[in-house]
Amino acid sequence: MEKNELKHLAIIMDGNGRWAQAKGKKRSYGHKAGADALEKIALHAVDMGIKYLSVYAFSTDNFKRSKEEVDYLMKLFVDNFHSKYNKFDKHGIKVVFSGVTEHLPDDVIESMKAITEKTKNHQNGTLNICLNYGGQEEIIRASERYHEDLNAGKITKEDMNRDKFYEYMDNNLPPIDLMIRTGGEKRLSNFMLYQMMYAELYFIDTYFPDFNADILDDIVNDYYGVDRRFGGINEKKGNS
Ligand code: IPE
Ligand code: IPE
Ligand code: MG
Repeated sequence: MEKNELKHLAIIMDGNGRWAQAKGKKRSYGHKAGADALEKIALHAVDMGIKYLSVYAFSTDNFKRSKEEVDYLMKLFVDNFHSKYNKFDKHGIKVVFSGVTEHLPDDVIESMKAITEKTKNHQNGTLNICLNYGGQEEIIRASERYHEDLNAGKITKEDMNRDKFYEYMDNNLPPIDLMIRTGGEKRLSNFMLYQMMYAELYFIDTYFPDFNADILDDIVNDYYGVDRRFGGINEKKGNS
């Protein structure tokens, strides 16, 4: 049997705080370890030939956390986008961001711009970092862009359909094929709701800092064999 195509992988990187607390450390220690895990996973995904990797780094609702934790995460983003993530540049990975810059500190916005600019012509794979991101908010942004085009006469109502709508989302990324959430919770927490329509969903107990290439390989191998029907009937499987 032909294996499923895996063009767009998405990961909800959850469980950093609990991973650290289980070790008697501060939550920030878990966030640092999570950033290291992401670097390895992103490089591995490109090696596997996965063209798009979307990761949930910070939700709009994560601003509800303590100032100490939010400040630490913002500092971690700046450090990573400026230095460590140079590796993405070396490996030909294009980095893009989904979300809004509102409420983000200036140095975070500058570091996001810098890595986006530096990697914009790369073609080995795209890493989409969802930062200050919400899935419903992205759908609202897309509908606002669509209405602007409609008012400007750039598109007609007849031209709009569910495939066309992707062009109005933050980075015009393809539908998600496979979504993995680490950390044990079985929910989407407002992550890429539009793109997830026929995604295969894997919820695993492993905390994100412990997530690695071997675990990803196992999930992907399982995913390859799933009967994805997209609402139809798979004739090849003998469902006559
Ligand atoms: C995910 O880990 C990272 C962010 C949300 C920034 P958490 O910080 O949510 O870790 P847990 O779920 O509390 O363990
Ligand atoms: C989702 O995790 C957001 C990220 C991983 C960045 P949360 O920890 O914020 O989600 P909830 O609160 O458990 O739903
Ligand atoms: Mg969490």
